[in-house]
Amino acid sequence: MARDGALYVCQTCGAAQAKWSGRCPACGAWNTLVEESASAPPGALKPARGGKARGLAFEDLESQTPAPPRLITGMAEFDRVCGGGVVPGSALLLAGDPGVGKSTLLLQVCAESARRGAACAYISGEEAAEQIRGRAQRLGLADAPVRLAAETALREIVDGLKREAFDLVVIDSVQTLWSEAHEAGPGSVTQVRACTAELVRLAKRRGVAIILVGHVTKDGQIAGPRLIEHLVDAVLAFEGERGYPFRILRGVKNRFGATDEIGVFEMGDAGLAEVRNPSALFLNEGGDRAAGAAVFAGIEGSRPVLVEVQALVSPSVYGTPRRTVVGWDSGRLAMVMAVLEARCGLGFAGRDVYLNVAGGLRVSEPAADLAAAAALASSALDVALPQDCVVFGEISLSGDVRPVSRTESRLKEAAKLGFARALAPAAAPGVAESSGVRLNGVHRLTDAVTRIGEGQWP
Ligand code: TYD
Ligand code: MG
Repeated sequence: MARDGALYVCQTCGAAQAKWSGRCPACGAWNTLVEESASAPPGALKPARGGKARGLAFEDLESQTPAPPRLITGMAEFDRVCGGGVVPGSALLLAGDPGVGKSTLLLQVCAESARRGAACAYISGEEAAEQIRGRAQRLGLADAPVRLAAETALREIVDGLKREAFDLVVIDSVQTLWSEAHEAGPGSVTQVRACTAELVRLAKRRGVAIILVGHVTKDGQIAGPRLIEHLVDAVLAFEGERGYPFRILRGVKNRFGATDEIGVFEMGDAGLAEVRNPSALFLNEGGDRAAGAAVFAGIEGSRPVLVEVQALVSPSVYGTPRRTVVGWDSGRLAMVMAVLEARCGLGFAGRDVYLNVAGGLRVSEPAADLAAAAALASSALDVALPQDCVVFGEISLSGDVRPVSRTESRLKEAAKLGFARALAPAAAPGVAESSGVRLNGVHRLTDAVTRIGEGQWP
């Protein structure tokens, strides 16, 4: 029985219900409804009674005052993903799984910025000041003039930030924050939303850049970062595969720049090291590439990145063969396999197919089609591709290999890393010569499969 004034809010999607149930009717998640007070948050719109309207004041699109310069944190990979530094007066959300390295990254960002003269504060609701100090010591950042606080009460944080002027403030994490204006517990949808909205207002008013940490949660015990994505100016996702030291910072939303940039880091004893040349990282160093491996010359954001795509096609022992893919879209794999079957005569019936993008990278470009197809064909035919060959190109359902953007940059990156051949869409002559990579241009996927099968490479 629902009590008066009680609302049950799904911690995953934020939908509110008058009655509790085991499953959220809106998003279908189980055990995520939590009782929260139904009272409207302070600052919610109230109908004006008898008050005079202020009148809407229009402004020009062209600004009269120059925008303040961006804050360059000194962590180049971080700055690039932000769109060239952090914008003063903006709120940024860094989302990621627990343990991926969010606190480590932001402590480093804070320290580097502080060393460059910015006034920085790191406010943690998760760790004691002593713990953070210990980490800073281990990372060799103890000398940086970062102001440190362990606090979860929103009012204290807001007061503190009004007393002292800062350029950059990190709040770790938004799920530990708690405002006394609401009855719900920390980490609930109500608290997370209300605290974020308050901090975003503070950022705009005081011109301070605020970075919020948000844990991605799968079980709905605490509210996830999705609920506040619309409140902040930029959302960065920090990702990493378990067992790999690589961490990838990806722009998800950015009101001040492009969202297709990635930053690559390597987690080590000294914290997160920036990886300036990711290609070298994602290629399997040493040893020959066996049948089933193809090096994809991709573009991530504005940068070319070479990454190994590995496929294994093996006889299946199950009635229904397995199709497993890591780091690529499974729908795209099904399409490429269908085209290989229908247009190139490669059969996958009764065979398990595994596809893996090495190094924990996620590839989403259509240009990876041909690399995946080459890896699959190479494994199915048990013929290795030449060691010095990169692959890229989009495949259409008709079996055509379609040109992709930025062929030059892909080939230049390949040349830089010692590759001499490219299996790619047939392009205008002259492109490949300039980069020193020999282009094996193909118009149709069958031509590529034939070349792989025969092992004849000019
Ligand atoms: P942390 O930044 O605490 O993660 P988050 O804030 O996202 O929860 O990082 C936790 C992991 O990082 C922990 O498992 C240990 C590892 N780590 C290193 O490998 N090297 C380091 O120098 C540091 C500080 C952490
Ligand atoms: Mg942390």
